[in-house]
Amino acid sequence: MTTTLISRTARRRWWWALWGLMAVLAVGIAAYAVPPYLTGDPADSALPLRPDVALHYLSLVVHAVPGGLVLIIGPLQFMTRLRVSNPKVHRVLGRIYMISIVAGSIAAIVAATYSLDGFPSQVAFYLLTAAWLYTVGKAYQAIRRGEVQLHRIWMIRNYALTFAAVTLRIYLIIGMAVRASVADLAFEDVYTTSVWASILINVVVAEYFIIHRTLMPLARRRQRRDSAPAAQNTEEDAVPTHAGKKG
Ligand code: HEM
Repeated sequence: MTTTLISRTARRRWWWALWGLMAVLAVGIAAYAVPPYLTGDPADSALPLRPDVALHYLSLVVHAVPGGLVLIIGPLQFMTRLRVSNPKVHRVLGRIYMISIVAGSIAAIVAATYSLDGFPSQVAFYLLTAAWLYTVGKAYQAIRRGEVQLHRIWMIRNYALTFAAVTLRIYLIIGMAVRASVADLAFEDVYTTSVWASILINVVVAEYFIIHRTLMPLARRRQRRDSAPAAQNTEEDAVPTHAGKKG
């Protein structure tokens, strides 16, 4: 009994540490990457722009601003306490999150088309956009049906893709440090590798997290419930269902 309590406390602490790190990195990258696109001056762009295409800079502005918003809102949406105590806030932020993804995705397609960073990165960005839209669509569909756990799983997948904006920049910093000591490593190779790594590693981490934080606890609870039908509700069971509260 005491051992179970200790391990539950340890798990909760580990979860808060992870959540804190994720939130700090999300806010940090949003604060670092978005401001150059708030000035309205293409000269402030961190990326090289096509001089003949005004739409290139505009697409980065329309992409970066909602992207930053999505990055910051995400961690709040995973707070069980906020969801349970204030489901209305969760719903409002969820709508802002979703609309921002749609706007950010349309702009990302344009930005990827004009990107000067090479075909392999462009392919990665197109795939990322499709997956970003698909996962948020599935999450929305699940919650409209009142399937809370499924909604959570799709949102973990979606935020893992959003978080590629953070890991991309971390891999770029590491890649540039490696490049400084490896003379014939081209920037384009560092960039392409970082883009693909940020997506693929995040997807793998998300699936691991889904299995260990959602599916396995669910299976354990189901097992306990089957062996002791009068078992009490747990924190996870208290997650509000939006069934019957559509809109
Ligand atoms: C997850 C889906 C996302 C996709 C598909 C995507 C796609 C893109 C594309 C195609 C570019 C242009 C890259 C180039 O020309 O090489 C770009 C740049 C940018 N993106 Fe995203 N992005 C996503 C998420 C985010 C998020 C969540 C943020 C939030 C901060 C963000 C912020 C930016 C910024 C600020 C730039 C300009 C480049 C820079 O200054 O670093 N993106 N993105």
